[in-house]
Amino acid sequence: MLCAAFPRSMLAAMNFPQYRPRRLRESAALRALVRETELSANHLVLPLFVREGRRLRRPIASMPGQFQLSVDELLKEAAAAFAVGVPAVILFGIPDRKDERASGACGIVPKAIRALKKELPELIVIADVCLCEYMSHGHCGVVRDGKVDNDATLPLLARAAVAYADAGADIVAPSDMMDGRVAAIRAALDRAGHKQTPIMSYAAKFASAFYGPFREAAENAPRFGDRRSYQMDCANGEEALREVAMDIAEGADIVMVKPGLAYLDLVRRVKDKFGYPVAVYNVSGEYAMLKAASANGWLDEKAVALEMMTAFRRAGADIILSYWATDVARWLSETR
Ligand code: PBG
Repeated sequence: MLCAAFPRSMLAAMNFPQYRPRRLRESAALRALVRETELSANHLVLPLFVREGRRLRRPIASMPGQFQLSVDELLKEAAAAFAVGVPAVILFGIPDRKDERASGACGIVPKAIRALKKELPELIVIADVCLCEYMSHGHCGVVRDGKVDNDATLPLLARAAVAYADAGADIVAPSDMMDGRVAAIRAALDRAGHKQTPIMSYAAKFASAFYGPFREAAENAPRFGDRRSYQMDCANGEEALREVAMDIAEGADIVMVKPGLAYLDLVRRVKDKFGYPVAVYNVSGEYAMLKAASANGWLDEKAVALEMMTAFRRAGADIILSYWATDVARWLSETR
């Protein structure tokens, strides 16, 4: 059935045999001529995991090809990504010691940022701002009486964001899902003289089982309970739009939808409704699924990954965070 949005006159013209969509699919050149969505490395962000040590490259079992890296190895990984055209990385830190104040949030990541900005000044360095990796209980905020205390968490997030901006981060990206954190971070950044540092907020971040492998990578699984009291219910689209509206009102410059593949409807709705730069996170579970299938010979990794990237862009994403970023950039340069 044809879409009611088309005028009657056009509906007639779009009838077979006058209209034959296959005409424009006949050759690769014709298909390229009418292609609506182009992929380029310019929009990719590579997530990297960093921890203390030297020459450390600890494989993450559920994410083949991804590693926990010491700063020296992180520099190599980032340089390799940058060399093939990936313009940005986002950093997640794994501290040696965890506590109930997330003290480690201001340790390894600022160190990594300084090293990256020194070695690769043109690489965009994004710092994920969250506390779960640094908390002994693994939750994204301060725990009081067995609950995550929203307002007590805000100053800790703001302090971490300022530490990252001080170290030279180009963008800070709060992923904790506390209410009011974008405003708190914006105010703290401005006070510290970082008026020009953009905030990319994980605005619509869902409590998702697709984060499973990341919890191994970042060692941030909650020790009790789950994240449903702060991350969103996967059934709620309208609420996601409210979350995005709120973050924009509080000063977010880029808004993210996360996870990606199962939430493309929201990427489109957020883009259409707000017209803001939209990021999508192609999360660890999406990566693990395809890696496992391709290892078994069931799916073609390159073809499926490129199809995913195209789908993110078609849905309206400007920015794609993906563990495939370096591969995708390389694949794109090879096929040219
Ligand atoms: C934590 C955080 C998570 C991810 C990014 N930041 C996991 C979580 O909320 O437990 C998930 C990324 C992925 O799965 O690739 N603040």
